[in-house]
Amino acid sequence: MAQTVLVVDFGGQYNQLIARRVREANVYCELISYTKIKEKINELHPIGMIFTGGPSSFNDEGAPRIDADVLSLGIPVLGICYGCQLIAGTLDGAVGKGPREYGKRTLAADVTSALFKGLPRESQCWMSHTNYIEKVPTGFTVSATTETCPAAAVECADRKLYGVQFHPEVMHTTHGFEILKNFLYGVCGASGEWTMSGYVERTVAELKAKIGDKKVLCALSGGVDSAVAATLVHRACKKLTCIFVDHGLLRKGEAEEVVRVFRDEQGMNLVAVDAGERFLTKLKGVSEPEKKRKIIGEEFIRVFEQEAKKIGTVDYLVQGTIYPDVIESGLNHSAKIKSHHNVGGLPDVVDFKELVEPLRLLFKDEVRRLGFELGLPEAIVMRQPFPGPGLAIRVIGDITENKLEILRDADYIFREEIANAGLDREIWQYFAVLTDVRTVGVMGDERTYDYTVGLRAVTSVDGMTADWARIPFDVMQTISDRIVNEVHNVNRVVYDITSKPPATIEWE
Ligand code: XMP
Repeated sequence: MAQTVLVVDFGGQYNQLIARRVREANVYCELISYTKIKEKINELHPIGMIFTGGPSSFNDEGAPRIDADVLSLGIPVLGICYGCQLIAGTLDGAVGKGPREYGKRTLAADVTSALFKGLPRESQCWMSHTNYIEKVPTGFTVSATTETCPAAAVECADRKLYGVQFHPEVMHTTHGFEILKNFLYGVCGASGEWTMSGYVERTVAELKAKIGDKKVLCALSGGVDSAVAATLVHRACKKLTCIFVDHGLLRKGEAEEVVRVFRDEQGMNLVAVDAGERFLTKLKGVSEPEKKRKIIGEEFIRVFEQEAKKIGTVDYLVQGTIYPDVIESGLNHSAKIKSHHNVGGLPDVVDFKELVEPLRLLFKDEVRRLGFELGLPEAIVMRQPFPGPGLAIRVIGDITENKLEILRDADYIFREEIANAGLDREIWQYFAVLTDVRTVGVMGDERTYDYTVGLRAVTSVDGMTADWARIPFDVMQTISDRIVNEVHNVNRVVYDITSKPPATIEWE
């Protein structure tokens, strides 16, 4: 079993970020609820644990706690923020209210501590807390302070217990990644074995042993998760069939690209179903966004079902589930704003014996690195998020082939110019929307009465919140000029400057 670190969740907003940083340091970790801590220790034999921050106050009734014996197992622990107070409070230290700190602070650290090895004596850290360690537990020393926090880091090196009041996982802590690596390598003895090339080797071998020459089916959507999952399985088995349902709502050139990459380059057995007309017929006259989503979701499943029936019973169905999905379903629930369509309903209509989810343990950035490792092209691996219902929710109001064509052309120009400006890696998602507004314009000496195209570009980490991207005006100028000149029936371009919340990223 790979060396594992447990990232123990106490409800902190940065919990996934901590886990991603650990993985970035080439150490495998799992994010688990604090309620499962003993069970997971027994199951995974971790080389170390990181306790995350959390919204609770240690002294409050009902605040998450752990049994003190967890700290006496000899397993190194790094507590962050609440996790640090938890260590102190669980032992014979004390946690009190204030002094509260929020934002950047200067950290004065004892650089002889294993945690701060190689760091300057003073550096910047990021604080976000209202409680603090009032009394350091017996056997512990203070290894860092800030002007207002007397115990910004505490440790008992003999017991390998460490705590930091600040957040080493966020970028604002300038040496945070080094601190985490010092803990992982210097304290836990990690060997850095978690790499994507190692993952390919291990997973392909496991899949080979499991699947053998049995029949496997996969739904390929063109998105990065299903693409990487299918390619990985393809390496391990000869009897994989991929079904790609082209609902006619993809961006310019996308369907052709899927066929070229997976059938021609990767040599997969790919069934490409051209179902555009079918979807457009069902969507005729429909303008309500949730209705569009529902129709597309159901139709997608129906088309897939028909194709799958032709193949007959299969042994395995591949799904591109990734780790954040697993975490999300295990740790919390949130309100539904839009009914997101993905391939979630497929298991109900396919005759299969078992699911294969080869990306279940990977974060999105790891899936992308894996995609490159498997030789997939950048256009697929770095593909920006794209909604399952596709352009149907970017044509506002009812959908026609003509509107889709206008949108495709405008969107293509937008994407091309963002790439030309070198902004494509910086902006999280950028796309055109065809509004159902028509306005008066003048072209040559002629009056025009044509569509308005909306441009949306956002920066985000996970799509949950987003800010509008500050695209330089000269780039916007080029985009706007090209769209009104090159795309028929468009005479106006507007830029969406709303953040999420209160808006959403997509317009529908
Ligand atoms: P919103 O518009 O809710 O979008 O702010 C957040 C992220 O989700 C994508 N999105 C979807 N993805 N099916 C999907 O698979 C959908 O129906 C859907 N609607 C929105 C959106 O592009 C953004 O990345």
